[in-house]
Amino acid sequence: MSSASDVVPGAPGGVVAEEGLAVGGLTFREIADAEVEQVVALWQECGLTRPWNDPYVDLADARAGDTSTVLVAHAEAPAEGTQEDGTEQGAVVATVMAGHDGHRGWLYYVAVAPGRQGAGLGRAAVVAGEAWLAARGARKVQLMVRSANAKVVGFYERLGYADQETTVLGRWF
Ligand SMILES: CC(C)(COP(=O)(O)OP(=O)(O)OC[C@H]1O[C@@H](n2cnc3c(N)ncnc32)[C@H](O)[C@@H]1OP(=O)(O)O)[C@@H](O)C(=O)NCCC(=O)NCCS
Repeated sequence: MSSASDVVPGAPGGVVAEEGLAVGGLTFREIADAEVEQVVALWQECGLTRPWNDPYVDLADARAGDTSTVLVAHAEAPAEGTQEDGTEQGAVVATVMAGHDGHRGWLYYVAVAPGRQGAGLGRAAVVAGEAWLAARGARKVQLMVRSANAKVVGFYERLGYADQETTVLGRWF
């Protein structure tokens, strides 16, 4: 298993998410069937879902192919008693969806349980997604931030991301 120090964003190889990718004290793994409900609940709690995007379909699509995945990390076992923030032991506390087109990698659904935010888990989720992409040959990582969620731009800037001076255009089929 990789250790946190093994994880170098942008350096392909050495990272097998299926076996567990250790980042910042958490282990990220491919999501399991039994975790789908709590992951969707986390995304809803984090304000990431929209009526026109069914999160279950997004999740299933990302799991269906070889070029995308959903990684999750769980609350670590407390040394004694329950977690101070009330998080159940074993609950999913951080997620990231990653996918690539052979050149660029994309991150989606970067989410940390509200009670666990501000403690480095978001950074760990991004690093895990980056490592998954880099290991598959992606040469760049990028992501979209909804205009209404501009407050998180500072988080990504802290992690080395910069505005790509690109307008994203789209159209529904
Ligand atoms: C955005 C989110 C993933 C950040 O996770 P987090 O665990 O709170 O962030 P971290 O503690 O890992 O922060 C990493 C660094 O970014 C900084 N940071 C975090 N949020 C920030 C913000 N809004 N503005 C500026 N810096 C920020 C932290 O201070 C920390 O800096 P440091 O490493 O120098 O101490 C989390 O707040 C979240 O789940 N939000 C709701 C869902 C969401 O909006 N996701 C993004 C969709 S594009």
